[in-house]
Amino acid sequence: MAESATNIQPITFSGYYQPKDRPVEELTARVGPDTPCGEYLRRFWHPILLSSQLGKRPLAIRVLGEDLVIYRDLSGDIGLLHLHCAHRGASLEFGIVAEHGIRCCYHGWMFANDGTILETPGEPATSPHKHRYCQGAYPVVEYQDLIFAYLGPPEVRPEFPLFDTMVMPDNRMVPYIIHSPCNWQQVSENSMDPFHVPFLHTRVSGAQFSEVFAELPIIEYHETALGFFYTNARRVGDFIWVRMHDHLVPNFSQNGAIFENVGKVRYFGRAGLTRWVVPVDDTNTFVLAWRHFNDRDDPERMGRPEDVGVGKTDFYGQSGGRPYEERQDQPGDYEAWCSLGPITSHAREHLATTDRGIAMLRRRLKHEIENLQKGIEPARPTPRDGAAIPTVGGDTILRVPKNTEDDTQLIRDVCSEVAAAYTETGHLPDAARREAIERRLAPLNQGDISGINPDRGKVFEFKTVA
Ligand code: FES
Ligand SMILES: [Fe+2]
Repeated sequence: MAESATNIQPITFSGYYQPKDRPVEELTARVGPDTPCGEYLRRFWHPILLSSQLGKRPLAIRVLGEDLVIYRDLSGDIGLLHLHCAHRGASLEFGIVAEHGIRCCYHGWMFANDGTILETPGEPATSPHKHRYCQGAYPVVEYQDLIFAYLGPPEVRPEFPLFDTMVMPDNRMVPYIIHSPCNWQQVSENSMDPFHVPFLHTRVSGAQFSEVFAELPIIEYHETALGFFYTNARRVGDFIWVRMHDHLVPNFSQNGAIFENVGKVRYFGRAGLTRWVVPVDDTNTFVLAWRHFNDRDDPERMGRPEDVGVGKTDFYGQSGGRPYEERQDQPGDYEAWCSLGPITSHAREHLATTDRGIAMLRRRLKHEIENLQKGIEPARPTPRDGAAIPTVGGDTILRVPKNTEDDTQLIRDVCSEVAAAYTETGHLPDAARREAIERRLAPLNQGDISGINPDRGKVFEFKTVA
């Protein structure tokens, strides 16, 4: 007779029988050169440092398991080279920055920012060395006080991914960088796990953000060419509050406002942060992000730009800097994702209904990595005709009182409407997009829900050209 769920008896006090080994997800956890995931991650631009961290001396850093040196030369350009000199391997963190490039301290070889060897001063003038070899080098882009690098094959280097939230008018972008001593996936997956919010951030040890997060959200995930977005909705009195989240593979995410006032109607509020989760190596990770500060999305100015920077940001529980007892009493995201261990084992988990987003993300990552192994390059976020790449991160709040038996379905239908409004307007610049979204969603505020069912279950893809 087949076992039913009711006649399986879990064994209590079964510690002895539980498996002790913790196999690692080799395909997605390893990020170094020549690993499948490392190859995949190297197809994308990643932020690696804040501009403010780069002083007048070179800095040894590690990115995707590679030891590198980064410096700003005397002309102001940034170089990102392999740490160890092409001659005999001295570390270029002890190099001397020049007008254009850097000079190794040991025998004075001089490198341009693209890795060209400019001088080998101890060699005869006829020495072919400088024409024969190159120092490993990577291209960088500095944008709004974040430094981005591309560590992949030059032949398939994508354009720098300028997202719409990076060019918002009247917006101040303040960058931050925070280290977590654990595998990148643990940090990254957190943003595809909206169900931790009512527990970790609200019910378990008190409200860390707002009491309104205590209710379980109604979530609809949508898969796109570049990854995912999802609608994350709650009823708050007469309002339906829809938070929109981006999660582009491999490691980009944006969520709604950090400090939200749900008591008023809002159309197309934008993301409180734009974030990348960047592996340092297999067991260390940096979050690099911008917090956005503007009057439109934070009219009460609850955000604190002065608390955002190296090792810190202005919202709860993102770093390990608090006293241990306080972290135990009121743990935040950092405690949750780090406490899974240096590299968590998926085989030891018991995924449940709230983990659908995690399962989708893992499946997609695996698919992308396996495709690349077969020679199929991943889709990358690319600006079209100079226009920024559309995203959805941010909040829309509509006044739609409860007026049907099935309020959950009403909320889901409103979410579909919001998703349709956001994606259909992806080709428009900020102000025009806002107007178009408002035009489309405004009837809902007047209680007109007659036209909202057609988008239910629709597959959404961004309209990116007019
Ligand atoms: S080790 Fe760098 S110049 Fe010799
Ligand atoms: Fe969280």
